[in-house]
Amino acid sequence: MQQEQDFIFNNAKINLPEQGSFTFKTPSNIALVKYWGKKEPQLPENPSISFTLDACFTLTTLEYKKKDKDGLNFEIYFEGKKKDDFKPKIATFLKRIQKYVPFVSEYNLIINSRNSFPHSSGIASSASGMAALALCIMSIEKEINPKMSSEYFNKKASFLARLGSGSASRSIEGPLVIWGKHKDLDKSSDLFGIKFPGPVHEVFNNYHDTILLVDEGEKQVSSTVGHNLMDNHPFAEKRFEQANENLSKISTALKNGDMKIFINIIESEALTLHAMMMTSNPYFILMKPNTLEIINKIWQFRNKTNANICFTLDAGANVHVLYPEKEKEAINNFIISELIKYCQNKNYINDRTGFGAKQI
Ligand code: DP6
Repeated sequence: MQQEQDFIFNNAKINLPEQGSFTFKTPSNIALVKYWGKKEPQLPENPSISFTLDACFTLTTLEYKKKDKDGLNFEIYFEGKKKDDFKPKIATFLKRIQKYVPFVSEYNLIINSRNSFPHSSGIASSASGMAALALCIMSIEKEINPKMSSEYFNKKASFLARLGSGSASRSIEGPLVIWGKHKDLDKSSDLFGIKFPGPVHEVFNNYHDTILLVDEGEKQVSSTVGHNLMDNHPFAEKRFEQANENLSKISTALKNGDMKIFINIIESEALTLHAMMMTSNPYFILMKPNTLEIINKIWQFRNKTNANICFTLDAGANVHVLYPEKEKEAINNFIISELIKYCQNKNYINDRTGFGAKQI
């Protein structure tokens, strides 16, 4: 069992590399059982599980160069342009992780980042972005300590990424990652994500996620505000309990391929996430009329054809349509003929499950 102390870098006297650069391509992820509610320091109120995606990714290069004065110093470029408005979030992240990777303050850091998906698509880039940066920083640590195991590398990368954005802890590996302590999962931890233990039924291999971009605007509710809504929420305790139960049930379904249970939990989790937002104070409705149109169309299609299609939502109006590889043709036709018309500018992204971050 790893503890917080295991991630503290304690090799202070070592000669640090002068300079270098690392690049990582890091995917986004979509939660099946949702993380909604957190406590200090970036610990989840309940465990969550997600599919790691493939087509939606962030590509980040971190250049580092030794400097004379100690202290954090960095620049951030997004799609080639200097982005000072991203600085506060990165600064908070770097301050939080300094205890675990103190060498970051010995360097001038230049971060160059871009996403495969449009910035204004409503797809959160904090998961892939923070995970990419964590991996680049871990690569500096690995250069200092080349004997580090890949297991420790991934765990600590997930641990650091979590301190940037909770869901980022689930973007290091794939295709299924659990973050948060669950009583039946020995190795699960609030500190970092772990790969789903044990074999997964083949129906979930190469699972598809078509993301329907219903509302391409900026997020209406930031995740920080959103998570805080769960403090003093009247249904919070029950919700956290339910997430634990749903994780047990979905783990069984993932092993035995029970699609009915899988679909039921996924859709229930999506609607519960939104129900939590509707019943908090202040309250929010993040779905748009077209979100509901799409959900109803999916239900009609499923009733009529028995297709294993279902939806999930993140904290916004976009709809993730999930379906198995074997049924992709029929479901793709349905999406194109019946659902695309509800997307803003008919925009959608065909994604699928992937295997996690890659060094470039
Ligand atoms: C609805 O990971 O974005 O997507 O930890 O504050 O950065 P912070 O929050 P974030 O929250 C994600 C919430 C969610 C559900 C999920 O991904 O599990």
